[in-house]
Amino acid sequence: MKLSKKEVDELAEKFENKEPQEVLKWALDTFHPKISLASSFSAEDNVLVDMLSKINPKFRVFTLDTGRLNQETYDVIDKIRTKYNIQIEVYYPNTERVEKMVFQHGMNLFYDSVDYRRLCCRIRKVEPLMRALSGLDAWITGLRRAQSVTRTDIKKIEIDEAHGNIVKVNPIADWSKEQVWDYIKKNDVPYNVLYDKGYASIGCEPCTRAIKAGEDIRAGRWWWESPETKECGLHVHKKK
Ligand code: ADX
Ligand code: SF4
Repeated sequence: MKLSKKEVDELAEKFENKEPQEVLKWALDTFHPKISLASSFSAEDNVLVDMLSKINPKFRVFTLDTGRLNQETYDVIDKIRTKYNIQIEVYYPNTERVEKMVFQHGMNLFYDSVDYRRLCCRIRKVEPLMRALSGLDAWITGLRRAQSVTRTDIKKIEIDEAHGNIVKVNPIADWSKEQVWDYIKKNDVPYNVLYDKGYASIGCEPCTRAIKAGEDIRAGRWWWESPETKECGLHVHKKK
């Protein structure tokens, strides 16, 4: 099931003011089983798991385990797995690529330069993502426009040119952080306990820290870099 750019633009317009559940229902009706939720088990992603499980309990979900995640993240992955009685497709980096990278550049190369940081993200996240997406016609993400200067233009339904022109569905693109947490509280959705320790956006353990009051929500991700470089390559958006 392939959609043209024109069809996707029309759908994006049609669904812009619709609830995320309506977007998800359309997406599952159109693409299941060739659609999967990409989840890092963030608050946003767990909201989507809860919504999807209420629409079709057979929905698919995958995660990219970089090998450098926090124990708290593994704990919430298992909580979600148990509560929703779902199987989670876990993708790992290519072992030989990781071995060569750390042999050449060390275990903590990401602190040495933006290029090395991007190399690590490429090997541990972006390449496994390509494998996860191969064979899919669409993927779902928990991206929100308010998360970052690099995300302000995202649509709820778009063509992902970086991944073979499959469809990318961002059902809560227009949600605020408050809406995410309201949903979590009202629906008793499990969440990563790192949020209670001052974390606002959670990635790999060595590249994520808690933020201080008043700091930007992504200030704790790759905190040594400038806001413009803070994308790991999973999401490629051309600025219009
Ligand atoms: S990142 O690009 O900076 O790492 P972020 O943590 O904000 O992304 O997450 C944005 C969305 O990308 C998530 O809602 C999820 O859909 C997807 N995502 C991020 N990290 C992963 C991961 N490790 N596995 C699967 N999906 C992920
Ligand atoms: Fe490597 Fe850090 Fe990127 Fe994780 S976030 S893949 S540890 S550079």
